[in-house]
Amino acid sequence: MAEGGQTVRVAIAGCGAISRAHLRALAEAEPGDGVRLAVHGLFDQDAARAVERAQEFGVERVYGSWTEVLEDSQADVVAILLPHDLHCRFAVEALATGHHVVAEKPMATSLAECDQMLAAAARAGKRLYPVHNRVYDPATEAAESFIAGGAIGEVFLAQTVGLEPPQTVSVRPWLGTAAGGGGVLLAQAIHPAYVLRWLLGEVAEVACFKSARKVVDMTAEDTALALLRFQSGAVAEMTGTFGLRAGPYEHGITLYGPEGYVEIHSRRGVVGLSAQRFGDREVHALLEDAGWGSGFRRMWQDYARGVAAGSPTRVSGEDGKRAVEMILAAYRAADEGRTVALPLG
Ligand SMILES: NC(=O)c1ccc[n+]([C@@H]2O[C@H](COP(=O)([O-])OP(=O)(O)OC[C@H]3O[C@@H](n4cnc5c(N)ncnc54)[C@H](O)[C@@H]3O)[C@@H](O)[C@H]2O)c1
Repeated sequence: MAEGGQTVRVAIAGCGAISRAHLRALAEAEPGDGVRLAVHGLFDQDAARAVERAQEFGVERVYGSWTEVLEDSQADVVAILLPHDLHCRFAVEALATGHHVVAEKPMATSLAECDQMLAAAARAGKRLYPVHNRVYDPATEAAESFIAGGAIGEVFLAQTVGLEPPQTVSVRPWLGTAAGGGGVLLAQAIHPAYVLRWLLGEVAEVACFKSARKVVDMTAEDTALALLRFQSGAVAEMTGTFGLRAGPYEHGITLYGPEGYVEIHSRRGVVGLSAQRFGDREVHALLEDAGWGSGFRRMWQDYARGVAAGSPTRVSGEDGKRAVEMILAAYRAADEGRTVALPLG
């Protein structure tokens, strides 16, 4: 197993769509603080897919079964890139066999599952990290430093949008089922949820509507609006849909202060308006390219340091649970037709 100055070896479980982003990030990651990253092996129940991915990224080992992954003591970390309802079981088993775990978002589908995963990590003395890649995006960092530098004053309002087509669901059949995926809130809005929490702090209260006009063939909600009130008093609105057949695929987060605003947008990059910073009332580019994707590389470098040197990381397993809690609060709010206070009882 890796100690400081060594290589952190990653076994990947799940070779679907998102595995490419992880494999690219792991291939590109520069050694940070003397810690290298290497892909040790790939596993998928669809063996042909694992082989294809191994060939694409030059990975030598393809595991024949999940048991083989668990028995591989050469692998330091198991990355769990699987349908949502499998995250908990696979994470708990990997932790129990002495591996650190990086689990895709949402870390799990319930607070009980999150607690099982955190307890398994504590028992094993291993690290558990959620994939909150957008916290590591240069775009998020640019917005964060714009705000921290006083450019717009204290944020009091935020809006997020996630517009995706039905293909997001149709290419992942499990995402259309209640057990496998959850709806747009758990699968998509969790990204802006964890970014808002990172930027604005803890949430006090959540309200939510799910659209009652179904446009995507899936069990759970395809479209929803959630409202958040933070402990700071700031409020935010999150809009998410998988129903936009013809529209642009876009994601955005806009944060407003009394003196201006900053917007992170998948097509517009990062832009800001700040009389204090720019001496005018125009919208200025802060970052031409939002850089979606490079967050994965920076995340893996941070987690590798956490694993190898025990250093604190930007995101922890507890953050994974808190993000899930925000979404579960939204579900409860929508289902019960009321606002729901956090933490959930
Ligand atoms: N961080 C991000 O930006 C981002 C983006 C997309 C997806 N995700 C997340 O990544 C995870 C995977 O999503 P995806 O888009 O790659 O899905 P996908 O459907 O493309 O891939 C899932 C893979 O898991 C495999 N699988 C299913 N059950 C299995 C089992 N029991 N044992 C072994 N393999 C099994 C499937 O064969 C498939 O290859 C989800 O948690 C999803 O929310 C994250």
